[in-house]
Amino acid sequence: MWGGRFEGGPAAVMREINASIPFDKRMWRQDIRGSLAHVEMLRDTGIIAEEDCVAIADGLIQVARDYETNGVPDDLALEDIHMLTEARLAATIGPAAGRLHTARSRNDQVATDFRLWVRDAIDEADAALAAFGAALLDRAGEHAASVMPGFTHLQVAQPVTLGHHLMAYHEMIARDRSRFADARARLNECPLGSAALAGTGFPIDRESTARALGFDRPTRNSLDAVSDRDFALDYLQAASQCALHLSRLAEEFVLWASQPFGFVRLSDQWSTGSSIMPQKRNPDAAELVRGHAGRITGCLVALLVTMKGLPLAYSKDMQDDKPPVFETHDLLALSLAAMTGMVTSASFDTARMRSVAQAGYSTATDLADWLVRVGGVPFREAHHVTGRVVKLAEERGCRLDELPLDALQDVDGRIDGRVFDVLSVDASVASRTSFGGTAPANVSAAVRAARGERP
Ligand code: ARG
Repeated sequence: MWGGRFEGGPAAVMREINASIPFDKRMWRQDIRGSLAHVEMLRDTGIIAEEDCVAIADGLIQVARDYETNGVPDDLALEDIHMLTEARLAATIGPAAGRLHTARSRNDQVATDFRLWVRDAIDEADAALAAFGAALLDRAGEHAASVMPGFTHLQVAQPVTLGHHLMAYHEMIARDRSRFADARARLNECPLGSAALAGTGFPIDRESTARALGFDRPTRNSLDAVSDRDFALDYLQAASQCALHLSRLAEEFVLWASQPFGFVRLSDQWSTGSSIMPQKRNPDAAELVRGHAGRITGCLVALLVTMKGLPLAYSKDMQDDKPPVFETHDLLALSLAAMTGMVTSASFDTARMRSVAQAGYSTATDLADWLVRVGGVPFREAHHVTGRVVKLAEERGCRLDELPLDALQDVDGRIDGRVFDVLSVDASVASRTSFGGTAPANVSAAVRAARGERP
């Protein structure tokens, strides 16, 4: 394609380092789509003749059919998907194929194809996130009133509900969807027609190609358009943050499934056994989701570093933009599907969660708050009194609500029988009715709101 002034062919290793076809063939559909839009525009603007346009468009469809049935070969001599498709077109329709690349360069072509690919990847991620969000809502609704220990520093802090805990992840997922939506909106400008770097002297119609490919408008600066990969970085950033959220939930599942916690039993479908220890049920999928977040973040860093030293406009380094994006797409799709499956099929041991919440003096804050509210005690002093009550319960090896009233009154005479109304974990969570709090009524309302239902 570019050999006009060369006498010797490239070295074998040159061919190998130069070729992107082994990975960029994943964009063949986008490449065909971009070429069809381009050739129709060339016809509509009178740059090429009607019959050439028809021959080229028919030929492209034949090439696409062939890719569909036989796959795309790794033809290193043809370098990339753009050159392979053009060579296939030439073999199919003859010399008219040579008119397709009029007023176009591989630089604006690849920028366009890659935007189309990333846009599809964003739409796919959004659909998978919607399904994952729905699974979280289902389980959160089911467990709106299931008491579990809430942690800070991984120490039992205050009782919360499992529904509230799952809804925290739903919030993260909602932000992920909004980040992908932002990325999509910024991405949706069409580089086609920027040509190699400076634009073209042919009377092209960039508005029409942009429209035909579903973009909102053409990009405004040809130098930027062929050398910008922000859209890929935006995608990788959104994906990394999403993977981070999945990893945190995966980590909770790993902890919760471990015997000392015993909060969750992963279904057989999402557990693996050990070849030596017959009793094991390992949460491998959760561990791999946690691991994949590291790889996805690595992909983001890889492209950031690739781009950071590049002068305008196109440099071949930019060919390395695709593998990290493809890898991220595959890992994120797997992670989302696995977490959706795990969340949907997990059985939560709510009795165990409740007993751990009760065992951890998790209602100590409720006692302090009661002393403030009912006894008129300043909070700092109430905190101190409560500390002595916890110490007493520790000494007796019982829960706060199991201490007899006279023992409580020995610590502080301002305590009376009404205190038992707030010492249970159920009373504690039911009292947390501030907006965004863990009260079961709040959690049910949050689930309804997230489903778009009326309060
Ligand atoms: N395979 C190349 C890439 O992915 C296409 C663009 C090549 N452009 C060039 N001027 N060599 O970046």
